[in-house]
Amino acid sequence: MRESASGGGGRSYLFDNASAHARGQHRCLAGWLDRISIGELSRVGVQPGMSCLDVGAGAGSIAVWLADQVGPGGSVLATDLVPLPMADRPALTVLRHDVVRDALPETAFDLVHVRLVLSHLPEREAVLARLFAALRPGGVLHLLEFDAEYAPVLTVPDERAGDLYRRYQQAKLRAFRTRGSEQGWGRRCAAAMVRAGFVGVEASPHLDTLGPGTPQLEMQVHNTWHLREALLREGLTDDELAELRALFTDPMFRACSNVVYAVHGRRP
Ligand SMILES: C[S@@+](CC[C@H](N)C(=O)[O-])C[C@H]1O[C@@H](n2cnc3c(N)ncnc32)[C@H](O)[C@@H]1O
Repeated sequence: MRESASGGGGRSYLFDNASAHARGQHRCLAGWLDRISIGELSRVGVQPGMSCLDVGAGAGSIAVWLADQVGPGGSVLATDLVPLPMADRPALTVLRHDVVRDALPETAFDLVHVRLVLSHLPEREAVLARLFAALRPGGVLHLLEFDAEYAPVLTVPDERAGDLYRRYQQAKLRAFRTRGSEQGWGRRCAAAMVRAGFVGVEASPHLDTLGPGTPQLEMQVHNTWHLREALLREGLTDDELAELRALFTDPMFRACSNVVYAVHGRRP
């Protein structure tokens, strides 16, 4: 497989693994989502000897878990525009690779896992077609994606804090949309998989509560740093970002998470 020299598709990607905040972001994602991903992947079935691809693997928590499941007789290829260091496993290979532009082997994998990547890619439907072709007949694509348009605040110390949180959520949506990201993709990706030819497509929505000390809310704190420049461009100020960080430690603060859709389907 040819390796991406420049990570060309990454021009549209707002989170940047080169950022000092990327490790924290990936730690929070793993703390929040691995439980959901592992539950859903186990339900779909991951067996010793399987050949797996994890696209946009980030810090690799799921790639490493997959490598432990498939064992020495199987293989896991973890790809990313900018791969982060991850635990070593005999079955695991890490590759710098742009899923939009770089070559992908065809009819090669029993399982393809993609978490929180496609929403960010304007070419997401073309990538779905490439992932379909990369699977063996009977192979499974497993997606996990947010519907980030759903983000209600539940309890706040005062009305101003609720308004500020809503403005922050709206600013994030605008910042992502400017880069070609599809923030409602979570609720649309099952239909896109059907259009791409997958069969047996099933979607499970998951919700969590964001409160102080949870990985979900810790990720919001990271976002205020990681996305700072984009949020300032969208009209928030540094004082407001500092207010948000303080709000995220307030024992009264609760919000509902984005809807997390776990979706899988099979190549016939
Ligand atoms: C939100 S992170 C999710 C990481 C990991 N899948 C997880 O859920 O923990 C998105 C990842 O996709 C990667 N990515 C973005 N565009 C990509 C592309 N065109 N090809 C491959 N990876 C890409 C990013 O570098 C980043 O690591």
